[in-house]
Amino acid sequence: MKVLVTGGAGFIGSHTCLELLKAGHEVSVVDDLRNSHPESLKRVEAISGKSLRFYRFDAADEAQLEEVFAQGEIGCVIHFAGLKAVGESVRLPLEYYANNIGTTLALCRVMKRRGVFRFIFSSSATVYAPGSPMPVAETAPLGCTNPYGWTKLMCERILTDLAASDPRFSVVLLRYFNPIGAHASGRIGEDPAGIPNNLLPFITQTAMGRLRVLQVHGNDYDTPDGTGVRDYIHVTDLARGHLSALDYSLTHTGCEVFNLGTGRGYSVLEIISVFERVNGVKVPYTIGPRRPGDVGTVYADPSKAKDLLGWQAQLGIEEMCRDAWRWQKGNPNGYLSHKGA
Ligand code: NAD
Ligand code: WQD
Repeated sequence: MKVLVTGGAGFIGSHTCLELLKAGHEVSVVDDLRNSHPESLKRVEAISGKSLRFYRFDAADEAQLEEVFAQGEIGCVIHFAGLKAVGESVRLPLEYYANNIGTTLALCRVMKRRGVFRFIFSSSATVYAPGSPMPVAETAPLGCTNPYGWTKLMCERILTDLAASDPRFSVVLLRYFNPIGAHASGRIGEDPAGIPNNLLPFITQTAMGRLRVLQVHGNDYDTPDGTGVRDYIHVTDLARGHLSALDYSLTHTGCEVFNLGTGRGYSVLEIISVFERVNGVKVPYTIGPRRPGDVGTVYADPSKAKDLLGWQAQLGIEEMCRDAWRWQKGNPNGYLSHKGA
């Protein structure tokens, strides 16, 4: 099938493009590279031995989207394009609402005009109301604590209402837990701009010596060792989840939501210890205060995805830590390590 992937040059998008190509799909990417590098797509092509089409523009631009759709038979849209930094969204709420909702609305309008009805959306575990019992199932109460989360919840609402209004639509909302790791080749991975917000890139850059010390955000949570517990999922497993969602959309209409997580939580100290052990490196850390907005424990109930999509995570925490390190070691400055960059 011909699949349009917005945000395909980014972390999760690039890994998903690779799995789509490997599975024999045709891939067109729309990305304006505001948070990514075109080298990621070149490497996706090199690893897969297949080519994809790349269009560099803002995915909120309906006129340019129309031109891409006019080039023929797109069967499905996978929508990754968006801004994703929680802290930044508190400072720049209008940018987040405009971009994350604007791209989603533009795609929906063009798809409806062009008769394309399969839509897979990148949502997030951040849409669950704090205080939900763990593991968190799709039916848990929703509610957010920051503008980024609200953009995801609003997009979920828009897509749910769209599917309810037009029975031809098949919408799959995927709520990712904490994607980490990198493709096993070590050639594509996470390449955050500036100082990372997320734990794993902070760990890999500290292990490299690029950052001096990791600050553990709090050790007084109600968890076995006091540090925050999260459901880390290998980005390749997550990418494969999109292929399962694509298959599902072929035989179902309406709108369905799935957690994509492993169902198992690890604490910050456990992650540091696994990372050090499997990679034979040290990660200097200090214990700091809690990070505002953080909760103690979040992990998924992934049983709905297993039952309805036939998907479950295959790769464990050791592979996640090993693959993240292989990528970081081989690309100390991310895609900018590349000679042609
Ligand atoms: P990323 O920043 O690496 O990828 C997003 C891509 O979208 C980038 O290549 C960026 O250049 C592009 N983009 C952004 N706005 C655009 C626009 N208006 N037009 C065209 N391209 C645009 O992020 P990621 O980690 O790969 O996340 C992908 C999606 O998954 C996002 O929607 C994010 O909110 C969601 N998500 C991510 C996580 C996570 O922890 N990484 C967790 C849950 C959900
Ligand atoms: C994980 C754990 C931190 C950095 C965020 C978004 C969420 C989703 C995924 C998009 C927590 C601790 C972290 C550090 C630390 N993104 N930590 N020192 O906060 O679970 O989720 O990314 O949808 O919306 O909120 O992920 O990687 O930032 O933190 O101790 O330098 O690591 O406190 O316990 P989080 P994270």
